[in-house]
Amino acid sequence: MADETDGPDEPGRPVVSVIVPTYNEAENIAELLDRLGRALADLPHEVIVVDDDSPDETWRAARAHAAGDPAVRVIRRFEDRGLSSAVLAGMAVAEGRALAVIDADLQHDETALPEMVRSVVDGGSDVCIGTRWGPGGSYEEGPQIRRFGSRAATLLARKLVTKTRTTDPLSGYFVISRLAYEQTAPAINPRGFKILLEFLGRGRELRLSEVGYRFGPRRRGETKLSANIVRNYLIAVLDLRYGRHLSPVFAMYCLVGITGVAVNLGGFALGEAVSLPRLDLAFTPGLNPIRTSVLFGIELSIVSNFLGNNYATFYEDRYRGRGLLRGFGKFQAVSMVGLVVQVAVFQLLEQNDFPAASVADGLAAIVNNGIGIAVATLTNFLLNTTVTWNRRGRVRRFTYG
Ligand code: GDD
Ligand code: MN
Repeated sequence: MADETDGPDEPGRPVVSVIVPTYNEAENIAELLDRLGRALADLPHEVIVVDDDSPDETWRAARAHAAGDPAVRVIRRFEDRGLSSAVLAGMAVAEGRALAVIDADLQHDETALPEMVRSVVDGGSDVCIGTRWGPGGSYEEGPQIRRFGSRAATLLARKLVTKTRTTDPLSGYFVISRLAYEQTAPAINPRGFKILLEFLGRGRELRLSEVGYRFGPRRRGETKLSANIVRNYLIAVLDLRYGRHLSPVFAMYCLVGITGVAVNLGGFALGEAVSLPRLDLAFTPGLNPIRTSVLFGIELSIVSNFLGNNYATFYEDRYRGRGLLRGFGKFQAVSMVGLVVQVAVFQLLEQNDFPAASVADGLAAIVNNGIGIAVATLTNFLLNTTVTWNRRGRVRRFTYG
């Protein structure tokens, strides 16, 4: 299956380049390199360690090993950070016909690697995925909650990113052909951690194969995938699915908005149930009295929307600590504009008996309130992106990493 990008089979050219991204893996790297050397003894290979200038000096440990092993190269990066971008940096300088990625913490069973490489080099697949969820695979990583989270994220990816026809689209352990890599790499988002999902989601239809392996517990050091991971992952998946038509952040704003609408209607229903009083405004003679329950629903959703947007939609610009109060102040002010818009629209519609007076009175009020919410949501989005979270006055560029 040699072709232009595959290159000739020069003597000494590695069949596979194994990329090992590392951050604080000084305790693991030597053993991993030993194991890789043993597992790949029969295959011309190279190993490229890409370390983001780890404080524990993983790069030093890797270099010490490389001094006695010409197959190993070490890149110590200073400028960029992040798992996906480290993998791409390694791939960019790799020479193999196939490119493999494996974690440094010994959670990936390196003995599966030769079979995975063969499946790409001789077996005609573009990508071979080491799977924890498919036949022969198992997931023995620590806490139940992590396994559950990983499972949920996997299902979400398989639902939303339709090209994902694998049991483990979030695997950090895979082999990709040089051709597939070079065709897909230009479209890849280098932020985040789900590099395989990027290859699958952005690439043309790739031929996939899988090899099951036992995902063991991390023995030393600690995982880097923790803070903020759920939000980043959601944004990434929204981007892969809807990114061509819609900013993933707007999609996130809409998700928050939808929960806000539910909270708003819930508050309204609650207010009606306990018959909150109606407000008769002296300066608006002739208007129906305002239902306090509408205001109650609105305020409840203002709080929940602020929290949702602060921690999900605008996470990079989020308010923290005492700043939260200032942020909420702005959000509240912006929401007052929305409130005026919503109440005005609601009153206008009620006043004109819209929708048709034949509909039951309570239902009409809900529909009218819903329309008011929709109009106000749009106004608020414009104001929040410009006033509340655009604090540095810069052009918004959304990231997830
Ligand atoms: N260069 C570099 N830069 N390496 C990194 C960085 C970074 O910012 N963050 C993590 N790594 C390295 C780690 O040192 C390790 O070798 C590997 O990437 C995986 O990181 P872990 O912190 O061990 O991730 P995990 O075990 O929690 O997550 C695993 O499962 C995920 C899906 O559930 C990994 O295999 C992920 O790739 C996978 O997506
Ligand atoms: Mn790990």
